[in-house]
Amino acid sequence: MKKDIEKDALEDLTRGGIIGGKVHFLDSIDSTNNYATLLASRGAYEGEVVISDCQTAGRGRLRGRVWHSPPGVNLYTSVILRPDVAPESAPGLTLVAGVAVAELLNLYCPVSLKWPNDILANGKKISGILTEMRGFGSKIDFVVIGIGINVNMDPSNIEEGIRSVSTSLKEQTSKDISRLELAAALYCSLGKWYRVFIEDGFASVRDSWLQSSDMVGKMVEVTGGGCDFPQRGICKGIDDEGILMLLDDENRTVYVRSGDINIKKGR
Ligand code: BTN
Repeated sequence: MKKDIEKDALEDLTRGGIIGGKVHFLDSIDSTNNYATLLASRGAYEGEVVISDCQTAGRGRLRGRVWHSPPGVNLYTSVILRPDVAPESAPGLTLVAGVAVAELLNLYCPVSLKWPNDILANGKKISGILTEMRGFGSKIDFVVIGIGINVNMDPSNIEEGIRSVSTSLKEQTSKDISRLELAAALYCSLGKWYRVFIEDGFASVRDSWLQSSDMVGKMVEVTGGGCDFPQRGICKGIDDEGILMLLDDENRTVYVRSGDINIKKGR
């Protein structure tokens, strides 16, 4: 049976772009991020991508979280980048990828960005990003940006434990979407925003991120991220490096670099 995604067809669609010129296509892998990390540590070039029909141990951002990765329906891909920026700037790449994914998915259904790595449709997760970095000294060796998009997963096939918080493009649009075309468009969108980040810095991506998010003005609770107790505050936005800014009860600005974000209803 002809597969709906094939390496050659994908490379034909992405030829000439910054990302996806070389595709490593797999039927199954534990995690595309693990495989991309292995390739990058063996010298793979910037822009090479790993894409797998399914993952047996897809990973989420927070420790121990699993990314549900059944075969034949969704996108699981990891992109290798070698940005010549300081390691402190690398977290901004998660937000850059968020803007790229949101721009793409907005062509199908309205989506919004939740800091730092969630893409939501109708308040449910439709896509997630896992960025991992290796450095040497004060330089970045490589960054792997892993992106999962729930594409043609039927709502009834979404695992029971996450059904109330997850959705797919199919659930939102009632249509089957070509994974091949979606992957090619994703690499194109990511390449465009990555170029903006490299040439002009994160500050030039910031407004687009904010336009695709509805967090500003909402009460937010942050757990984890190195803090023993939850931090709460009204979201003021993100700064020029992509760090989340909250206004606490005493009108002090709190800068949040990582953590699990819970957006409260009302204020
Ligand atoms: C999250 O929302 O917590 C991040 C999810 C990231 C999932 C993608 S799927 C492709 C890549 N490989 C992984 O193991 N994880 C990322």
